[in-house]
Amino acid sequence: MGAILPRHVAIIMDGNGRWAERRGLARHAGHREGVPVVRMCVEECVRHGIGALTLFAFSSENWGRPEAEVANLMTLFFDALEREVDDLDRNGVRLRVIGDRHALSVRLQGRVADAERRTAGNTRLALQIAVSYGGRWDIVQAARRLAAEVGAGSLRAADIDETRFGGALALGDVPDPDLFIRTGGERRISNFLLWNLAYTELWFTDALWPDFDAAALGAALEDYAGRKRRFGRA
Ligand code: IPE
Ligand code: IPE
Ligand code: MG
Repeated sequence: MGAILPRHVAIIMDGNGRWAERRGLARHAGHREGVPVVRMCVEECVRHGIGALTLFAFSSENWGRPEAEVANLMTLFFDALEREVDDLDRNGVRLRVIGDRHALSVRLQGRVADAERRTAGNTRLALQIAVSYGGRWDIVQAARRLAAEVGAGSLRAADIDETRFGGALALGDVPDPDLFIRTGGERRISNFLLWNLAYTELWFTDALWPDFDAAALGAALEDYAGRKRRFGRA
């Protein structure tokens, strides 16, 4: 294991559907199989001392999937929140859901708010789960929020700079991801953290999310440790 650890890891958890289809199972079997992998990532981040982890669970565009799959995913989130919140709390994890939460059912919104409240004081790992999240949605909601402040007279348009704008985004109080991981073989961002990934190191693996394990995460961290980050400098 290299000595240089990312402070913040962001992951697109992709490939559940294909994992299931290859076994002749329904897609939801793949989504279910992905839940323990989330737990593994959280535990590994805590173990390594990585301070922040952001996981893409459901995109703005995923609402366009068949109704049954969407319903199944929402049930999975609801049940996983219920089941995992005690362990998260015990492990010092602060959980937050980022995304357009008003699109979620009132019942799920309540469960999310409860889990966030219960873990709000924890400081070991900042865990963000992106649900009904899109990078473009995030930028628009930040713009809208700042515009409202300008309208109310509490902010001058000329005072909006990158720091101010970044602060109004969903990850406003979390440092930008150092390492981005996407499982499932696709080499794209799929409307994840568009603003925050500006200088993030990217790592792609063909492993499908349910097959992603601690060794694969370790390989990504190892690779990251060997990267030379320049941030545009010479
Ligand atoms: C990721 O797996 C989970 C979500 C997007 C909700 P997919 O469901 O996209 O799986 P593939 O990409 O079809 O295999
Ligand atoms: C990205 O995966 C979103 C999540 C993993 C939550 P998708 O499967 O939705 O992305 P595309 O459609 O392959 O770009
Ligand atoms: Mg996919």
